[in-house]
Amino acid sequence: MKSLTFLILSLLTGLSEATFPDDSGPLSTGSVDYMKHSVVFVGNGLGASPGLTERLDVQRILKVNRTLFIGGRDHLYSVDLDAPVADEMFYNKKLTWRSNQHDIDICRMKGKNEAECRNFIKVLLKRNNSVLFICGTNAYNPVCANYTMDTLESLGPSISGMARCPYDPKQANVALFADNKLFTGTVTDFLAIDAVIYRSLGGSPTLRTVKHDSKWFKEPYFIHAVEYGRHVFFFFREIAMEFNYLEKVVLSRVARVCKNDMGGSQRVLEKQWTSFLKARLNCSVPGDSHFYFNVLQAVTDIIRINGHTIVLAIFSTPSNSIPGSAICAFDMEQISSIFDGRFKEQKSPESIWTPVPEELVPKPRPGCCAEPGTKYNSSNGFPDEMLNFVKTHPLMDDTVPSLNHGPWIIKTTIRDRLNKIVVDTEAGPFKNYTVVFLGSETGIILKFLIRPTTSTNFVNRSLFLEHFDAYSPEKCNSKGHEHRKIVGMELDKISGTLLVAFSSCVVRVAFAHCQQHAACMKSCVGTRDPYCGWVGDGQCAYLEPGTSIPFEQDVDHGNTTHLGDCQGNFPERS
Ligand SMILES: *[C@@H]1O[C@H](CO)[C@@H](O)[C@H](O)[C@H]1NC(C)=O
Ligand SMILES: *[C@@H]1O[C@H](CO)[C@@H](O)[C@H](O)[C@H]1NC(C)=O
Ligand SMILES: *[C@@H]1O[C@H](CO)[C@@H](O)[C@H](O)[C@H]1NC(C)=O
Ligand SMILES: *[C@@H]1O[C@H](CO)[C@@H](O)[C@H](O)[C@H]1NC(C)=O
Ligand SMILES: *[C@@H]1O[C@H](CO)[C@@H](O)[C@H](O)[C@H]1NC(C)=O
Repeated sequence: MKSLTFLILSLLTGLSEATFPDDSGPLSTGSVDYMKHSVVFVGNGLGASPGLTERLDVQRILKVNRTLFIGGRDHLYSVDLDAPVADEMFYNKKLTWRSNQHDIDICRMKGKNEAECRNFIKVLLKRNNSVLFICGTNAYNPVCANYTMDTLESLGPSISGMARCPYDPKQANVALFADNKLFTGTVTDFLAIDAVIYRSLGGSPTLRTVKHDSKWFKEPYFIHAVEYGRHVFFFFREIAMEFNYLEKVVLSRVARVCKNDMGGSQRVLEKQWTSFLKARLNCSVPGDSHFYFNVLQAVTDIIRINGHTIVLAIFSTPSNSIPGSAICAFDMEQISSIFDGRFKEQKSPESIWTPVPEELVPKPRPGCCAEPGTKYNSSNGFPDEMLNFVKTHPLMDDTVPSLNHGPWIIKTTIRDRLNKIVVDTEAGPFKNYTVVFLGSETGIILKFLIRPTTSTNFVNRSLFLEHFDAYSPEKCNSKGHEHRKIVGMELDKISGTLLVAFSSCVVRVAFAHCQQHAACMKSCVGTRDPYCGWVGDGQCAYLEPGTSIPFEQDVDHGNTTHLGDCQGNFPERS
């Protein structure tokens, strides 16, 4: 139990005991003047009189082809990303979807205030090429419905949003369509006590996780879900139940379920997952006293880097400790292999958790998917012994190691807690760089170049390219700190912009601010930014993917020693 001792040690001693690599500043900073040029959506339609704009309260954004859908409070907007813009984006279509008076009255009667008894859009998914599937909290009585993508018109009756959408707009939830079925991670009740991973729609029986069983979940906070092979993977954090002697330690997890799960037998796990397994994600800094970043904040979709199929994830320290964030990568194959490993169990309520000896694991292997054409072609035919095992042993013993055994990025000097991540795996004119954009709770975006390396020195794994403030206090017409929290982020490769959603606005900001270095070649090349290049004649230009314009840039080495200094025209360096 060496690692456990180290974990407790580092939890108790905090960050100060751990040794971190040099936490250096960015090569470039987006200047405030420059950022004033970003384009903003604040809820206005083209030609529609602004009038008294309602609070947007953006909850979700979704980009489908050249349209951005923005789900807020009582409204859904669609914005054409190719429309010519000056400094404001306007909606094409606006759907107003309010709760009816009856639902609002009941919500108020249950003690919720007027601002909460509204319809907050918490599920916003593409169902097929022309239909969106949307769920709203509907004054604490969630509902879901189909809407046409092009006209935002309702298609058919709505259905209950229970177990698909939270009641409380502040609850975190995830939702994903896979094989035409809806997979959700949310709570099923008003008081947000019964957390579930739930499957519904698409013709298969509905399935859920076991109710009120702390082995399955303990106050989970759902972050993301991805489809991979025969499974859907859920990323979340929860209170660790394997450290029963410590108070409330939050750990990060990945869980998986088989897409073809049909539930258990009539005796065990009927209408519940037979394939639910979970494992701890290990994002830690190696060293004498191992330091763990335990609090998962965000996970990317599946990407390919250097021959690995991975997700990148942001972790932080707990909110009551010294702020720090780390980005770790997890290989999907490595995650899968943890689920083929040992199970963890606690023999009695007082004993510590230990691995289950292999000979005591029933067959077929608990948590496996049913195989068509074999004896076990459907999960409801699995033997009771195996189903009982999986019901009582959802946790794996081994933790999922991060790729290269440590973070790719660590940030400890910046107070901003990182909470959003998007990745461009084909950055630069030759599409051969990987750039990560990290969003924070204060509206700051940090841009890093990822340099895949086998080196254990993780200073080399990333390069801090740029730092800029995406929030526009003037245009987002909302003051206060809470409004600066980034609620969603999308990459728009075609226009070379990031779409950054805040509660009161969506800001469109360029991937790079090359022109800021236009006066000086040394400064332009010094950015090491794969999106920028010196094209001569006082021009530091954004380089379109596949551009044929000759340019100078040195992303790999940043060698500028042969270039002359430019008096007074240097970029801000911090
Ligand atoms: C939505 O559309 C799908 C297929 O397009 C259909 O199967 C389903 O019944 C519709 N309604 C709801 C509420 O899901
Ligand atoms: C499973 O196999 C049985 C007979 O071996 C067959 O009757 C049944 O249709 C199969 N079910 C599935 C889901 O393939
Ligand atoms: C986490 O990973 C590190 C590095 O791979 C390893 O040394 C440590 O033992 C792991 N911790 C746990 C709890 O598995
Ligand atoms: C990307 O491609 C360019 C042009 O082929 C090359 O000069 C550069 O070294 C490449 N960078 C990487 C990291 O492969
Ligand atoms: C890795 O980092 C070390 C020390 O920071 C440096 O000396 C070395 O050149 C770096 N290697 C690469 C490939 O960047």
